[in-house]
Amino acid sequence: MAANRALLRGGPPPLSAKVEGSFAYLTVRDRLPTILTRVIDTIHRNKNKFFEEFGEDGVQAEKRTIGLLSKLRNELQTDKPILALCDALEDTDGWNQYLQRQQGLMGDQDSVSWFKSPWLYVESYMYRRIQEAIWLNPPISDFDVFNESKTQSFFKSQQAVIALCTYLQGLNKNMDNLSEMQLMDQFHKLLQVSLWGNKCDLSISAGMENFQKASPIDSLSDLKPFILVDDSSMVWSALTSTRRQGEDGRITPGRVDIVLDNAGFELVADLVLADFLVSSGLAKEVRFHGKSIPWFVSDVTAQDFQWSIRQTLAANHKCMSKSGVQWQSYMREGVWSYHDHPFWTMPHEYCDMAGDAPDLYATLQGADLVLFKGDLSYRKLTGDREWDHTVSFDRALRGFQPAPLCSLRTLKANVQVGLQPGQGENLSALDPGWMTSGKYAVVQFSSPHREQ
Ligand code: F6P
Ligand code: MG
Repeated sequence: MAANRALLRGGPPPLSAKVEGSFAYLTVRDRLPTILTRVIDTIHRNKNKFFEEFGEDGVQAEKRTIGLLSKLRNELQTDKPILALCDALEDTDGWNQYLQRQQGLMGDQDSVSWFKSPWLYVESYMYRRIQEAIWLNPPISDFDVFNESKTQSFFKSQQAVIALCTYLQGLNKNMDNLSEMQLMDQFHKLLQVSLWGNKCDLSISAGMENFQKASPIDSLSDLKPFILVDDSSMVWSALTSTRRQGEDGRITPGRVDIVLDNAGFELVADLVLADFLVSSGLAKEVRFHGKSIPWFVSDVTAQDFQWSIRQTLAANHKCMSKSGVQWQSYMREGVWSYHDHPFWTMPHEYCDMAGDAPDLYATLQGADLVLFKGDLSYRKLTGDREWDHTVSFDRALRGFQPAPLCSLRTLKANVQVGLQPGQGENLSALDPGWMTSGKYAVVQFSSPHREQ
C-alpha cells in the first residue's frame, strides 16, 4: 500500500524560481518583495493605532516587527538560506521538519533558498514568516496585516454583491416551482459565479485593488468560452447521486465541503452557492474550511468569515440583509460550519495530507463532495509541478482522493493539466499569458468512485 502510494506520488520537478524568467522567478524576484513592502508600510501606518491601544509597548512592537520584516525582505532578495522558524507555535515543528525534508532533497552541496527551492514552499514560507514576525511581538500579535485590503475589496464589490443577493432571494422565493432541469441550470450558474469570483484575489495583484465590477450573473455567457475544462456536469451527478431515497420515500441529501480561498466578492459568491445547495435540498450540510492565519493576502480567516456575514446582515439593502440573516441562522443551527486546520497553511502538496494530516484527510472523507476554490489550492492539488498539459487531473492528484472533489480555479500560475492534445500549444500561440492572467478558468472533477 505504502509502495503504491509512493509510485503514485512521483511526478515531474516542482516549479521553482531557479528557472530564470519563469513566472515563479518573476514572482519571487518582483511580486513577493512588493507584498512585503506593502506589509511593512501597513504596519507603519498603524503606528498611532498601536500607540492608542497599547501605549509605548505598541510602538516598540511596531518597530521590532518592521525590523524583522525588513530582514526577511533582505534574505529573500539576496537568496539567503531559508531559516528555521523560532516562534514555538502549533505548526512550528512541522515547518522545520519540512525544511529538513527539503534540505535532504538538495543534498549537501546547496542550501534550501528562495531562488533554488520549490516555489510553492518558499512562497508559503514568506507568509508564515510574516506571521512569525507579528507573533514574536506582543502586544500587536493579533494584527492582521491584510485586513484593510480584504475589507476594501468587500466594499468595492458592493454592487456585484447586491446583484448576487437579489438573484439568490428571487431564486429562493421560487425554489419549490423549479423543475429538475431548472435546478440544474441554476446550479451551473452559481457554480460559475463562484468560479469567476476567484479572479478577485489580491496576491496576484501584489495587494493592489482587485474587485468584482460587473453584474456576476450577466457576465456568465461572455465568460463561458474561457472555461478550458468544464466537468460541472460530473459535479452535478456526484451531488445528485448523494441524495438517497429512504424507505419512507424521503430524500436525504449529503454533505458538501468548501475549501475557501479569498475574502471579498469570492467569499460572497461561495456563500451564495452554499445557500442555494441547502435551500434547494441538494445538500443538508455545508462545511467551510478556511485559514487559521492571514494567508496569500486575501485568503479567508475565521474573522473574515464572521465579519462578511455580519456586514451582509447589516447592509442597507433588503435582499443583502435577508441573505445575511439566513446565513447567520445556518451557522447557528449547525447547517453550516466553519473549520480551520493548520495543514491549510503548511507548504505541503495535498497528496501529503493522508500521511501528514490524517485527521483532516479523515474529515474530508466524510464529505460527499469537496469543492476546492482557487489557484493556490490547484497548485497544491497538482503539487505545483512541471506537468505536461495533457496529463490527466487524476494522475496529477497522485493518490489524493478523500472524496469526490472539484477544483474551481482561474489560472494564475503556470501549472495546468487535463487539457486536450494541442490545446495548450494553441493557447500559447494565441495568448502567451494564458496561464497566469486569471482570464481563463477550469472546473476539474475527480472521484474515487470513478473508473480511472
Ligand atoms: O502567483 C500568483 C499567486 O500569488 C499564486 O502564488 C497563487 O497561486 C495565487 O496568486 C493566489 O491565487 P488564489 O487566491 O486564487 O489561490
Ligand atoms: Mg487566495
